[in-house]
Amino acid sequence: MKRVITYGTFDVLHYGHINLLKRAKELGDYLIVGLSSDEFNLIKNKKSFYSYEERKNLLESIRYVDLIIPENNWEQKPSDIQEYKADIFVMGDDWKGKFDYLKKYCEVIYLPRTPEVSSTQTKEYLSTTF
Ligand code: CTP
Repeated sequence: MKRVITYGTFDVLHYGHINLLKRAKELGDYLIVGLSSDEFNLIKNKKSFYSYEERKNLLESIRYVDLIIPENNWEQKPSDIQEYKADIFVMGDDWKGKFDYLKKYCEVIYLPRTPEVSSTQTKEYLSTTF
């Protein structure tokens, strides 16, 4: 069984996220999502609209997602890969090159981002339009 792992905030879930999760799952049989905690988002200078629990509930309803674990810091990826026996680490190509150091633990794949959609853009649009 091939296990794939990916990370992100996945706030105001959109079709770019679904597209990423679908392609990530297609690379293997089991998809693990490291979901950024609210505390970690603050460290990344992000504030999500939905709380961790709300984002987790949404992701749990996506058929491509098999397991959700919390992402609490930048350093946990190597130990997660080992603990969850991930064969492939996947991120969108906005992160291209940034996680190449994980190649000593597993395969690292950057998938093309879906154009013209992001959580930030959606939140800006909603806050200025309504
Ligand atoms: N992603 C993607 N295509 C998009 C938006 C996101 O493939 N249009 C991918 C990212 O590359 C990442 C994952 O989805 O691998 C989670 O991204 P996240 O940062 O949570 O979503 P964004 O919409 O990029 O959020 P923000 O606008 O806050 O950066």
